[in-house]
Amino acid sequence: MERELALEFVRVTESAALATGRLMGRGDKIAADNAAVTAMRHAFDTVYIDGVVVIGEGEMDEAPMLYIGEKVGAGTPPQVDVAVDPLEGTNLVAKGLPNALAVLAVAPRNGLLHAPDMYMDKIAVGPRAAGCIKIDLSIAENLRNVAAALQKKVEDMVAIILDRPRHAHIIAELRRLGTRVKLISDGDVSAAMATAIEDTGVDILFGIGGAPEGVLAAAALKCLGGEMQGRLVPEDEDERSRIVQMGLKDPEQLLTMEDLVGDKDVIFAATGITDGDFLQGVRYAGNCATTHSVVMRSMTGTVRFIKATHRLDVKPHYVARECPASR
Ligand code: FBP
Repeated sequence: MERELALEFVRVTESAALATGRLMGRGDKIAADNAAVTAMRHAFDTVYIDGVVVIGEGEMDEAPMLYIGEKVGAGTPPQVDVAVDPLEGTNLVAKGLPNALAVLAVAPRNGLLHAPDMYMDKIAVGPRAAGCIKIDLSIAENLRNVAAALQKKVEDMVAIILDRPRHAHIIAELRRLGTRVKLISDGDVSAAMATAIEDTGVDILFGIGGAPEGVLAAAALKCLGGEMQGRLVPEDEDERSRIVQMGLKDPEQLLTMEDLVGDKDVIFAATGITDGDFLQGVRYAGNCATTHSVVMRSMTGTVRFIKATHRLDVKPHYVARECPASR
């Protein structure tokens, strides 16, 4: 993939963030999601790729746009797999809470796990602790190993985890071990990325979240030099057979970075929608809006933070199509 594509992908996540940012705090997560999806879908039309959505808004009969298998881009080489989450954290935008992102990852064809829409158990760390995690070890052993790599005490570490009843036993164990715990209501892509970005104060992610989000997070961590391990969590026979159809012999096999994001080049882009741990949210003022994005590439490890000012009068398509307040 040409490196120039990186900027094109940022334009795509910026479009989604600009569209849905208008709907922050309105309590309508469906409208917020629709705005992001529509804007991202249109922004892809101008990008010179022959893309296929492998992680998107759902199966073809479930989602009108950005469904799995949909072709995106101008239809010219390179042939790429595209993973998107136009609005990662629908509740976060609806409630005006931190860390909602518009995200995408792109890799050469067959470069990303075609993760089904189900749960995945995850553990993730940043570059200094990469190689020190094993999802099959106990929480205590993982914390000890990561603490040693980070040259920290276990009590000084911060573990981030979705605040869900299914995680009660993990949270209790983290507290018993004295680790500092950051509970989040949503958004485990941002949480996984936080383990690998300086100054967020987050050291390790535990817990079960969406499998598609797991692949997106792994793509980001690959670019940042971090590590994630995962394991799909099928909830019934139907989900188990979907995993087998997808090509995994054992539905509960350990998924390493290579299983999740392969060994090819990956470009990852994210734009902040609400203010977050490492990206500011969208700000609107008069005819202008400001966005804050990160774009990175695994082949080179370059990580770019991009602050952009958008002239909404010059680029009216950046004004959300479905937002009455912006008309
Ligand atoms: P949405 O953007 O689809 O609302 O997902 C938000 C999210 O918190 C993800 O970050 C996470 O992986 C997943 O939901 C967790 O699922 P659940 O809310 O069912 O625990």
